[in-house]
Amino acid sequence: MANSLTVLERQSPEKLRNDFRQDVLHGLSANPKRIPSRHFYDAVGSRIFQEIMDMPEYYLTDCEREILQKHSPEIVAAVDRPFRMIELGAGDGRKTRILLEELQKQGRDFEYTPLDISESAVAGLLEDVSADYPKIPMRGLVCEYNHGLEYLCHADRRNLVLFLGSSIGNFSLDEASAFFGRLRAMLNPGDLCLVGFDLVKDPAVLQRAYDDAAGITRRFNLNLLSRINNELGGHFDLDGFQHYASYDAGRSTMESYLLSRRRQSVRIEALGHDFDFGAWEAVHVEFSWKYSEGDIAMLAERNNFRLKRVYTDDRDYFAVSLFEAV
Ligand code: AVJ
Repeated sequence: MANSLTVLERQSPEKLRNDFRQDVLHGLSANPKRIPSRHFYDAVGSRIFQEIMDMPEYYLTDCEREILQKHSPEIVAAVDRPFRMIELGAGDGRKTRILLEELQKQGRDFEYTPLDISESAVAGLLEDVSADYPKIPMRGLVCEYNHGLEYLCHADRRNLVLFLGSSIGNFSLDEASAFFGRLRAMLNPGDLCLVGFDLVKDPAVLQRAYDDAAGITRRFNLNLLSRINNELGGHFDLDGFQHYASYDAGRSTMESYLLSRRRQSVRIEALGHDFDFGAWEAVHVEFSWKYSEGDIAMLAERNNFRLKRVYTDDRDYFAVSLFEAV
């Protein structure tokens, strides 16, 4: 079977630039200031994120790999019929390969469907994966998650939805619950979801993961200001800002900020405006929400899923959870 790539919707460069422009305008005009974390991922940011995933302090990558390696036979065996494996967010495919390997070994009848809003990400992933797994039927889909799930999730086959890499960490508990509610509405009873959650843990471990000694995360965050300079005619002096990460134990979230190291005013040409920053004023750039096993159980219960299994690594840093639609 030939692999295919379907584009349901395309994000034009104009739309991307306009969204960025709007978010920077609103976020830097607000008090407190903020820029949404989704703007980290331009070409440079995505490359730096790869470096983050490879660094030892960012335990999430290794933990998730450890779990998938140990439990993929059981995970794969939990799907009882021919199925469609839908991956939300096309990463570099490294973790998916562990599952693909096992699926091939068990001779399962399935189709792999990575879904992402970035056409180049889906196309690149299809190309890489098909080179190594020429026999696996693959169908890439370029669109928003909800749209894609609606398009894909018919009852002709079982659906197994992958949402790995702690992408769920972009969502607070309430936002995650809304996400699961929408997901459940698209699925059929018996369909499965495999979701990677970063667990609450010693804040010292989190601190190192989000403020590494080599300064990779610092570069990742400051890249936002470079983006504004390059794409919106900003005049940020990157030395005038510093990366700051802190854990809010009460809300179980790691938060990242860019702090203005001095009082300064920065012009952004495309916005026709100068933005004032006080000394040590913070610009919020990211939440990385952490979950407890109780939270995970609650997400299932509230949204008509049965929590089939929660797999954790040896240190209990990370959980890969298998949800079954009831
Ligand atoms: C891609 C959202 C899972 O929050 O751990 C890593 C992004 N930011 N280091 C995370 C990130 C700083 C990452 N997620």
